[in-house]
Amino acid sequence: MTAITVQNLSKTFVRGFLRRRTVALRGIDFAVEEGEVFGFLGPNGAGKTTTIKILMGLLFPNGGTARIFGRPVGSRCAKAKVGYLPERPYFYEYLTARELLDLVGRLYGIEAGERRRRIDAMIERVGLSHAADRALRGYSKGMLQRVGLAQALLPDTPLVVLDEPASGLDPIGRKDVRDLILAEKARGKTIFFSTHILADATTLCDRVAILAGGRIRGIGALDELLSAKIDRVDVVFRAPEPAIEALRDAAGGAVRTTAEGSVASFDDEAQAASFLRAVLDAGGTVREVVPHRRTLEEIFVEKAAAGREASSS
Ligand SMILES: Nc1ncnc2c1ncn2[C@@H]1O[C@H](COP(=O)(O)OP(=O)(O)O)[C@@H](O)[C@H]1O
Ligand SMILES: [Mg+2]
Repeated sequence: MTAITVQNLSKTFVRGFLRRRTVALRGIDFAVEEGEVFGFLGPNGAGKTTTIKILMGLLFPNGGTARIFGRPVGSRCAKAKVGYLPERPYFYEYLTARELLDLVGRLYGIEAGERRRRIDAMIERVGLSHAADRALRGYSKGMLQRVGLAQALLPDTPLVVLDEPASGLDPIGRKDVRDLILAEKARGKTIFFSTHILADATTLCDRVAILAGGRIRGIGALDELLSAKIDRVDVVFRAPEPAIEALRDAAGGAVRTTAEGSVASFDDEAQAASFLRAVLDAGGTVREVVPHRRTLEEIFVEKAAAGREASSS
């Protein structure tokens, strides 16, 4: 079954007396299958939180549809199937972590004995045993993020939606979040999480969507987006002055001059290999051959730049 289905979703915010318009979503489509860890990636302002709030029934879209396990978002049966970590969780600061989790458990209708059992286990899982009975007022940002995760997972829903789950956490905290997500996946849960930190997605996601400027720029398995193929080879060389012009032609015109020497870039290894021969034949020397693979980081920057162009036009 499909856990999340989003079709042609659009959202424009209208603000203030002057009715300033911000287009946050420009018609996005994606589907998350049951059991997937799905990463929703994009730079700040891409529209991730807007999408998530629509999924949670907290914002209404201007167009399009969103469903959770086939039910319209915002409906009671859709909400009962989702645990949710908001981007900036604000809690009743006079409650302790245990009391907050108890409140959430009650809202989801979990019976008292079962509630206590789950709360104890969850406090342990998110590493807050030492602070469970202290008021949240005294918690650090990282501790609050852990409480937020605990309350998202407590109801044991088939779908968990996490908006920037790793924000405010140190590297150890980040690893804990990764481990928690993987443990949920192993229990058959579907996890949908947003992040602007690419490293958090690379070790976790079955598939990702890249969002920028309110549009989906790519969807797929990470290893498809992160093509293993070498997509550029730089050849750093030196050659006698009279030969440079001919070599520039052999390289298709693209030769840069750096402190290391001249640099020619090629789309594939065969072209680079024949260029190496040309350099040697011309009496030059090859100083370095540098293969480049596209990283998610590069794809991301590329997509973000495309998004900025699209939204500024
Ligand atoms: N309540 C709001 N009123 C007006 N504009 C908003 C509101 N919420 C978000 N936006 C705008 O919508 C765009 C997308 O924001 P958001 O969904 O929060 O992005 P992300 O979570 O990817 O950083 C941004 O340009 C943001 O300024
Ligand atoms: Mg956000």
